[in-house]
Amino acid sequence: MIDHTTFDGKVVLVTGVASGIGAATALQFLRCGADVVGGDLNSGSLEDFTRTVSGVAPGRFHPVALDVTDAASIAAALDHATGVRGRIDVLFNNAGIAPVGSALETDDALWRQVMAVDLDGAFRMSRSVLPALIESGGSIVNTASVSGIGADYNYAAYNAAKGAMINLTRSLAIDYGKRGVRVNAIAPGPVRTPLLEHNLAQLPALEGAFNQFIPLGRIADPQEVASVVVFLASPLAAFITGAILPIDGGVTAWNGQPNGDFVQ
Ligand SMILES: NC(=O)c1ccc[n+]([C@@H]2O[C@H](COP(=O)([O-])OP(=O)(O)OC[C@H]3O[C@@H](n4cnc5c(N)ncnc54)[C@H](O)[C@@H]3O)[C@@H](O)[C@H]2O)c1
Repeated sequence: MIDHTTFDGKVVLVTGVASGIGAATALQFLRCGADVVGGDLNSGSLEDFTRTVSGVAPGRFHPVALDVTDAASIAAALDHATGVRGRIDVLFNNAGIAPVGSALETDDALWRQVMAVDLDGAFRMSRSVLPALIESGGSIVNTASVSGIGADYNYAAYNAAKGAMINLTRSLAIDYGKRGVRVNAIAPGPVRTPLLEHNLAQLPALEGAFNQFIPLGRIADPQEVASVVVFLASPLAAFITGAILPIDGGVTAWNGQPNGDFVQ
């Protein structure tokens, strides 16, 4: 059972904490007793989030400025996290960007930017935090995507980064399992966060299309993703490592062929 004491005395490090999936997940870890060290690039939203959670878990949320593309920034965040209780138990590699672009629309700069945040960032964070996780017997949860399992139209760099994130997860899982570290990934489908809201605002008909093709008939709430991350990091998942868990309302169960019910 997971309750308000499950993560008592544990330190959870979350990247991309100030918005969407990161924010919802940090909140659930705080409700389960953890100290959460939350890093984000956006200092304004980090301040807002810190104010929001101050009433929920006084003194247990520790904000830190973090750019996952910058080695010095990662080192400083790690120092900060270690300073909280002298340990790190969970790393949630969640920071990500998803700019639109097919291959012909993706120049070198855009490609590098997506790889730097979505893939290199998670790799560097993992490499930096692994020694602490080996000591604590901790775990990593990576935010991949259904776009790393199958491809999304017009997201060449994002699809490639999330696909690589999935095999990075497996690689870390097999290399560090015998040293007591579990590594898993979540693969969300569409989740109602600012990242997705931005796309929905530009193309309002998109929401109806999502509702039609998602077998459960709707976009997910961030809390529905957060609860799975907390589960994967908890003792309930003690024998799960290297798993890529879709949280997609059935999207990846579909083979892509048209549904006769919706063909006019
Ligand atoms: N929303 C979806 O539909 C969806 C679906 C599948 C996967 N994802 C993944 O979930 C993760 C979170 O996405 P979200 O929807 O909550 O997005 P979001 O934009 O709401 O939140 C992402 C957060 O990451 C931060 N961030 C961006 N670059 C950073 C950097 N270099 N260093 C540190 N922080 C940085 C942003 O400031 C922001 O607070 C991403 O990895 C995304 O690819 C989202």
